[in-house]
Amino acid sequence: MAELVVAFDVPSGREALALARRLPGLRWAKLGPGLYVREGPALVREFLARGVHLFLDLKWHDIPSAVAGAVAAARELGVAMASVHCLGGAGMLAAAAQAAGEVALVGVTILTSHDAAGLGQVLGRGVPDVGCEAERLARLAVQAGMRGVVASGAELPLLRAALGPAPWIVVPGIRSPADPVYDQARTIALQDAVRGGATHLIVGRPITRATDPGGVYQRLVECL
Ligand code: C5P
Repeated sequence: MAELVVAFDVPSGREALALARRLPGLRWAKLGPGLYVREGPALVREFLARGVHLFLDLKWHDIPSAVAGAVAAARELGVAMASVHCLGGAGMLAAAAQAAGEVALVGVTILTSHDAAGLGQVLGRGVPDVGCEAERLARLAVQAGMRGVVASGAELPLLRAALGPAPWIVVPGIRSPADPVYDQARTIALQDAVRGGATHLIVGRPITRATDPGGVYQRLVECL
């Protein structure tokens, strides 16, 4: 069954833990750079002590030894999942995989903030189709030992067909038709993402900004 991962993009650890208390049966939490830089490993341990699986979403992209060091530290901390950038290349991905142990590493293919023109500028060549680039990088990531990839809902069918059934595909930008999209460009409904082969659905503001976060969480879990 797919897993619902709540993105705790809130200003403080105190607010994060208060929100966690309002989500009965919370299984997965995602911490990104903002909250992690502010609160550090102590907040990770608070979640782990509550029996929550932790996705440390710091999207590492550095020389192989530096990324392997970060992954080893995440492993010691006890997180269940962590992210790296596929654009770090095969050597970096392999070094990360070697250090991962029981941590599930997922590779970010192309940032959802990139369009074809912006990506072409970074790569120094024309990019006719962002989906093809995402597919190429996803194959590289899985070959290098990643447990899966992070991708937008738009790329789900392409990536599931390319990767086969085993790799995780972690999908952010989950929205129901009534939700504000905020700054997400490409959103997908939870049921469509599950049908398309997503294994982990990341939901942030539709839960964190709801007046009844527990009710929204519960309704989404029932759709998995
Ligand atoms: O609030 P919302 O549901 O849009 O939150 C989405 C979460 O997914 C954020 O924590 C964001 O960092 C993360 N994410 C994303 N796009 C990616 C990778 C991660 O929105 N490509």
